[in-house]
Amino acid sequence: TLSHIHRFVPGADPAATPLLLLHGTGGDENDLLPLGRALSPGAALVSPRGRVLEHGMPRFFRRIAEGIFDEDDVRRRAGELAGFVAGARAAYGLGAPIAVGYSNGANIAAAVLLTHPGVLAGAVLIRPMQPLGSTEPVRLDGTPILMLSGARDPIVTADDVGGLAERFRAAGAAVDHRTLPTGHPLTQADVDIARAWIAEAA
Ligand code: MLT
Repeated sequence: TLSHIHRFVPGADPAATPLLLLHGTGGDENDLLPLGRALSPGAALVSPRGRVLEHGMPRFFRRIAEGIFDEDDVRRRAGELAGFVAGARAAYGLGAPIAVGYSNGANIAAAVLLTHPGVLAGAVLIRPMQPLGSTEPVRLDGTPILMLSGARDPIVTADDVGGLAERFRAAGAAVDHRTLPTGHPLTQADVDIARAWIAEAA
């Protein structure tokens, strides 16, 4: 059985790259299914629930305080999620997915990219920040990564997310980083940009 409670929605279009949907703090496996459907109408959707609870709110890794992460747990949970992806691919007969992560979900996707290259075919990271202070060098040659930041996001600094984009670029990823005139919450602009980007990348 797979490590994570999850929802799986089969895709109508076998040629469409599956999406791995990763919710934010306090979300669950149901939250992002409508977003996934909007982003890629024919794609299979795999949506796990984060296995860490913070005051009852599911997350993908432990944190000590907002923006201060338990890096040992980040590494462990990134490995666990990489294992889940392999298991889900085998169970459902899927190719490597594009991760679509929001906030904490974007951060665990970033950790998977930085510690388990090859697991994700690409990633849409909505309001990400650096999940790990430093990591062993990896190669992400040509991996398409869309990063969507908020200029008025009180949780993520421009320096922090700029550093993350730089780390992905140094690994050879094809990074498209855009900063929107908004805060931390997901907006319609994120959906529109991500949909167009996935249509090109997937
Ligand atoms: C995190 O903990 O991953 C970030 O602070 C974003 C969030 O609030 O979930």
